[in-house]
Amino acid sequence: MPQSAPLANIFAQKTGAASCAPAKTSLNGTITIPGDKSISHRALMLGAIAIGKTRITGLLEGDDVLATGRAMRAFGAAVEKTALGDWSVKGVGLGNFITPESDVDFGNAGTGCRLVMGLMTASPCKARFIGDASLSKRPMKRVLYPLQQMGLQAEPDGQDHLPLTLTAPQRPVPISYKLPVASAQVKSAILLAGLCAPGETHIIEPHPTRDHTERMLALFGADIRTETKEDGHHVWLKGETQLMARDIIVPGDPSSAAFPLIAALMVAGSDIQLNNVMLSVHRDGLLRAVAQMGAQITTLNKRQAAGEDVVDLHIKSNGLCAIELAADIAPSMIDEYPALAMLAACADGTSVFHGLGELRVKESDRLAAIIDGLQANGVVAKADGDSLIIEGANIFQNGNITGGGRVETHHDHRIAMSFLMLGLVTKTPVIVDDIAMIATSFPSFFELMAEIGVAFNTETSK
Ligand code: S3P
Repeated sequence: MPQSAPLANIFAQKTGAASCAPAKTSLNGTITIPGDKSISHRALMLGAIAIGKTRITGLLEGDDVLATGRAMRAFGAAVEKTALGDWSVKGVGLGNFITPESDVDFGNAGTGCRLVMGLMTASPCKARFIGDASLSKRPMKRVLYPLQQMGLQAEPDGQDHLPLTLTAPQRPVPISYKLPVASAQVKSAILLAGLCAPGETHIIEPHPTRDHTERMLALFGADIRTETKEDGHHVWLKGETQLMARDIIVPGDPSSAAFPLIAALMVAGSDIQLNNVMLSVHRDGLLRAVAQMGAQITTLNKRQAAGEDVVDLHIKSNGLCAIELAADIAPSMIDEYPALAMLAACADGTSVFHGLGELRVKESDRLAAIIDGLQANGVVAKADGDSLIIEGANIFQNGNITGGGRVETHHDHRIAMSFLMLGLVTKTPVIVDDIAMIATSFPSFFELMAEIGVAFNTETSK
């Protein structure tokens, strides 16, 4: 495929409103979970600055990741698709990004945008970053503030959102930085900028977050070490070490696995297997939460890919009881609260989830979107500060939830997929206003859910 070949996902683009048919029978079958979004972004980025050709197998071909692929091309790397899920990236070497010819468009992708801000800080280049309506509302100062200390300049000065024109320094300055918010994106941006800084870049995380950047940097040969101390988790990176190309197999995305997982737990008698799920202590909060709710989950065939553990999950529905979750579990399941909220709506009792302030600055204000969507479908839900409180309908005892409401997704893929799943157990279908954004993270969502017995009403535009 030539260098200029468009990077686009191959699944039929479904747009417009949609609903899921209430389940008439249990869900059954085995599906393989597609590649992890976080790992896919990072594989393209590290490949783009390594020496040599990185081969990536199982790349998630979702719109967010494809935008990162286009960005890496714009900064000078040769990114090619060789087969479905198989990609090669010929890197430019540390500090060798070029100035893109036009605006770099990250679409809906906060991770792509924020990590590339760090990555470009390591090369003397200039770029204008743009994104869609949702990304253009998301806070960028959390990344810009430490990157500016490392030498990055941002215009308009003081602006917290895209579009932004960024000018990287001749050479970034190493910093020591204590993260004020639990954010793997901020941590990763600083580490990527530190790759070209002379000396040691140091980060302290009071609340540990996903460590995919640290693990993949080590895999590519970076000089990185970590230690958990009393004041938090410390990461040190020595700059100016060239990265060497690697072959990466992308493990399956636990955040995508969340949707068939909750579907099976909501529909009585279900018995499914999810193959190829990454299992990381920084991403396993949902599994721990549903185990407390009574789910029967067995992990099978533990193996490794891209420096991460991978398993197959066998899931059996087994009733659902309400739970209370403390704030400290939030970083390990930050993207899974919309899915978990659907289970809480079905459970026996009132669930309370604390420490959800970060949900307000995701692809949408997820706290508000969850509450509005549940209320529209007859479920009692409210926020109390940063806590989410949901009164479960106890569906296994009382029968299906009322449903019939229209859910505003605010262009948020996880809100769309979560509420489609709620429609499995409502008396009247749940209408989700737009499903187009599902392709950002899970382009094969409809096809895979159909394999375990979920039926949808959708429009297809290509
Ligand atoms: C991600 C980190 C998280 C998560 C996002 C992916 C990453 O964001 O919500 O979907 O790949 O580093 P924050 O860093 O804002 O918590």
